[in-house]
Amino acid sequence: MTEPSRDRSVEVLLPREKIARRVRELGAEIARDYRGRTPHLVGILKGAWVFMADLVRQLDLDVTVDFLGITSYGAGMHSSGEVKITKDIDVSIEGRDVLIVEDILDTGHTFKFLQEVLSVHQPRSLRLVTLLDKASRRVVPVHADYVGFEIPDVFVVGYGLDFNQKYRQLPDVRVLRSQDSV
Ligand code: PRP
Repeated sequence: MTEPSRDRSVEVLLPREKIARRVRELGAEIARDYRGRTPHLVGILKGAWVFMADLVRQLDLDVTVDFLGITSYGAGMHSSGEVKITKDIDVSIEGRDVLIVEDILDTGHTFKFLQEVLSVHQPRSLRLVTLLDKASRRVVPVHADYVGFEIPDVFVVGYGLDFNQKYRQLPDVRVLRSQDSV
């Protein structure tokens, strides 16, 4: 079987070992901050699923988990700015310490939308952990409470992130140049 995705000449931005180290650090920091509480982790599909699976196993805490399906990008490389729910949360978040888990914070439209729709359900607290932060691209003034890596304005794939639904399975975060995406 050929592995075209792994053979592509796309440069590694964050190797898997570096991601694993940072996820361990984030897990320790979050566990310290939520000591004595049971945070409710809400992973934002689809991109956050790989990060969430690794992060949750680094939390020395009782946690509960849920997923919310959101899409903000069309089939191209740029955000449409339009956010849609594709799968709602399954259980009530009222009175809960909700920690949203994202793969990437980019323009901020998605997180702003999530703050608006989830606040209505009156969680006790609402925070965001994101693996990647493209702070230079921010359009809406939001910030994450926990950030794995701040990255430059390049199109990244792998470790859950896609281009046209491909590359999510790559173990490293890689930069996809437009000429690689044909
Ligand atoms: C990505 C990411 C965030 C959003 C961030 O999702 O998972 O949800 O974009 O961008 P923003 O800050 O500009 O709003 P995407 O729409 O690519 O969907 P996916 O997670 O299913 O790949």
